[in-house]
Amino acid sequence: MRAVVVERYGNPASVAVVERLGPEPAAGEVVVRAEAMGVGYVDVMASRGLYAYFPGPGSSPGLEIAGVVESTGPGVPPELVGRRVLGLPAFGGLAELVTVSADRVLPLDDGVESEVAVALGVNALVAEIGLRRAGVDAGRRVLVRGAGGGIGALATQIAAAHGARVTAVTSGPDRARRLLASGATRTVGRDEGPALERDVDIVVDPVGGSALADHLRLPAANGHYVLCGAAAGAPSGADLEVVMEMFHSSPTLHAFSLNSVAPADLRASWGRVSALVGSGRNPGCRRGALPAHRGTGRAARRRTGRRLRQGGAAPVRAF
Ligand SMILES: NC(=O)c1ccc[n+]([C@@H]2O[C@H](COP(=O)([O-])OP(=O)(O)OC[C@H]3O[C@@H](n4cnc5c(N)ncnc54)[C@H](OP(=O)(O)O)[C@@H]3O)[C@@H](O)[C@H]2O)c1
Repeated sequence: MRAVVVERYGNPASVAVVERLGPEPAAGEVVVRAEAMGVGYVDVMASRGLYAYFPGPGSSPGLEIAGVVESTGPGVPPELVGRRVLGLPAFGGLAELVTVSADRVLPLDDGVESEVAVALGVNALVAEIGLRRAGVDAGRRVLVRGAGGGIGALATQIAAAHGARVTAVTSGPDRARRLLASGATRTVGRDEGPALERDVDIVVDPVGGSALADHLRLPAANGHYVLCGAAAGAPSGADLEVVMEMFHSSPTLHAFSLNSVAPADLRASWGRVSALVGSGRNPGCRRGALPAHRGTGRAARRRTGRRLRQGGAAPVRAF
């Protein structure tokens, strides 16, 4: 089988497609034949040696695949063979055959294409569970940083699908237009965010970086801040002192990683995300899908958002 491998840490040229022996599932595992693979910023970090849980050079990045269960290991019901699933491997997902722990494969509805499944994938799970932990609901004021990115676009749509009023912080007019069309109430430029928006109930932040402290001041009393990524770099401990400065407004900071989520909760979240998925047939919603045969660094389909449906009612546009 073919696999994308980080040969050494560095630039995209250090990532190659190689031939490997197909894996055998161990106890508690399944092997999935991948039809679509998601690529996110986390894979970029892994290939640069910036992600602690990546096993290192010689390994394959990739945290999500959609495909068909090919074989099962001891202790796993053999009836799973032939089922379409979203698989969440602990890396190794950029390969034709991928080993996944059986409790991290989630069922795919027949109507959901594999490309759509990975477009939602990890991003939708982070957004959905993060927002839920923060108590998203109709009328809540939600601010999303990095709203044009994978997690941010899905957080915008899912919060809007709950009836929240979403301020999307993003980097340019095209992204702003798409975010407004996919449910954001308003958009704010990256540099204006901390100055223009105050007293929000929930901040979803996959960006972190040096502007974290400014954004941590945005929640209203009893507000929630979901720090779920570091696309602009890891924040320093000093940034987090803001939380203590705000002691009397009782903020809740959620440092949120999907790695901490129990399998049953992943499955429940995926069920809620799947219920939001509409037809997914709007070609305008599709960007960045690459055929798996195009070679080094492209053997995957980049995750983006997709069309979601609110409770089976009016569709909410996504991108
Ligand atoms: N918590 C978890 O379990 C989990 C799971 C997967 C990934 N992650 C992490 O989440 C982060 C985002 O991942 P992703 O796949 O969503 O990345 P992505 O698609 O690259 O999106 C990141 C977005 O952040 C914004 N951004 C980037 N650099 C910025 C900067 N210097 N200042 C302000 N905004 C900036 C951009 O949005 P705009 O252009 O709209 O401004 C960009 O599109 C990564 O750190 C990743 O490792 C966390």
